[in-house]
Amino acid sequence: MKNKKIALAVSAGIAAYKAVELLRMLVKEGAEVRVTMSANAGQFVTPLTLEALSGNPVYHQLFNSQNSADMEHIRVAENADLMLVVPATASTLGKMANGLADDPLSSLYLAFKGPVMVAPAMNEGMWKNLAVQENIAKLKARGIEFIDPEEGALACGTTGPGRLANLDTIFARVNGHFEKLQDLQGLRILVTAGPTQEPLDPVRFLSNPSSGKMGYAIADQAKARGAEVTLVSGPTFLDPPKGVHFKPCKTAAEMNSLVQQCFPECDVLVMSAAVGDFTAQKLEKEKIKKHSEGALTLNLVPTKDILMEVSKIKTQQFVVGFAAETQNLVQSALEKLRNKKLDLIVANDISAPGIGFQSDSNQVTFIDSDEKVESLPRMSKIEIANILLDKIASNASGK
Ligand SMILES: Cc1cc2nc3c(=O)[nH]c(=O)nc-3n(C[C@H](O)[C@H](O)[C@H](O)COP(=O)(O)O)c2cc1C
Repeated sequence: MKNKKIALAVSAGIAAYKAVELLRMLVKEGAEVRVTMSANAGQFVTPLTLEALSGNPVYHQLFNSQNSADMEHIRVAENADLMLVVPATASTLGKMANGLADDPLSSLYLAFKGPVMVAPAMNEGMWKNLAVQENIAKLKARGIEFIDPEEGALACGTTGPGRLANLDTIFARVNGHFEKLQDLQGLRILVTAGPTQEPLDPVRFLSNPSSGKMGYAIADQAKARGAEVTLVSGPTFLDPPKGVHFKPCKTAAEMNSLVQQCFPECDVLVMSAAVGDFTAQKLEKEKIKKHSEGALTLNLVPTKDILMEVSKIKTQQFVVGFAAETQNLVQSALEKLRNKKLDLIVANDISAPGIGFQSDSNQVTFIDSDEKVESLPRMSKIEIANILLDKIASNASGK
């Protein structure tokens, strides 16, 4: 925690008084904390208390001539390693999920580019409200980490879920965040992402609907956790994550040659690209003409199997494959794991509605080299990326 810069954001819930104690705990461990308050949070705790305990000015007024001149929300955002919202009210979660910025806290959130952790606290009815749950789902899909509230006696006199998580739990999660941050340092991770395109003629190609979101999330999170990352990507609409070595390609053959070239210099390969299985036997030089009658027959040949090629030159590398299946998920994934000598396979059922290709979330099953099967519930691709990276980190530390 020492010298970590935390932007502690306090919104107007009854649990705001607990943020005062959390602030003390963070400062005691050496964190440099700057507090931002929602416009209403001052109804529960005073800026003076938070200022005295943090040793820093508290940002609590959007339209204060000094703050406005300094663009305080931008300054605080630029100078924090983590934004921590404690407590997060239903209203503040709604603003965050929908991009509203009408007070210091919500303006800071929109300006902040780094990781955000949120500890909600509210009455049970508010917590269970569909609008609140939808806002939480939206934020989770964007990679916001939630420290879920606990069940227990609530300030409104009822009992149920909604009580702010225990301060020790929040503190441990923040501490864990910083410890985890650099747990992949020293590892060279090669990630493939997106679809491939197999040209048929100058204007047409065979491809698939992969968006690349899964692989980009893995590359982005691995970089954030200290790895040296190379991202080999088929065509997508995504911006390459900052700081990764980016190698774009189009066809399966191009992707294969980039992977074979980079593989000997990496410690981990994560093959999350949806590589085309077939390519045209003959690439037509001119556009194939449409004839009103008669079907067009395309002659296709299999592309090189990248993971099979990799398995021939594999030495100490940890190799992760992905299996997108429409039937017999576990059985098909197990066969792929065995045939291609993988250390881990991540399988998902692409026939299930609302997950997989294009979506921000997915539901995956991990199978490791001991053939242990672990099925996860539906979650954001960023969360899946981090669970996968946890497995990679623990394998690397066990070596
Ligand atoms: C006594 C009192 C306690 C409240 N406690 C909570 C709470 O724990 N969680 C919550 O979401 N809202 C709570 N509210 C409602 C919020 O204060 C209200 O929605 C406010 O507009 C939130 O502002 P903010 O999210 O901008 O800070 C409480 C209101 C009152 C009057």
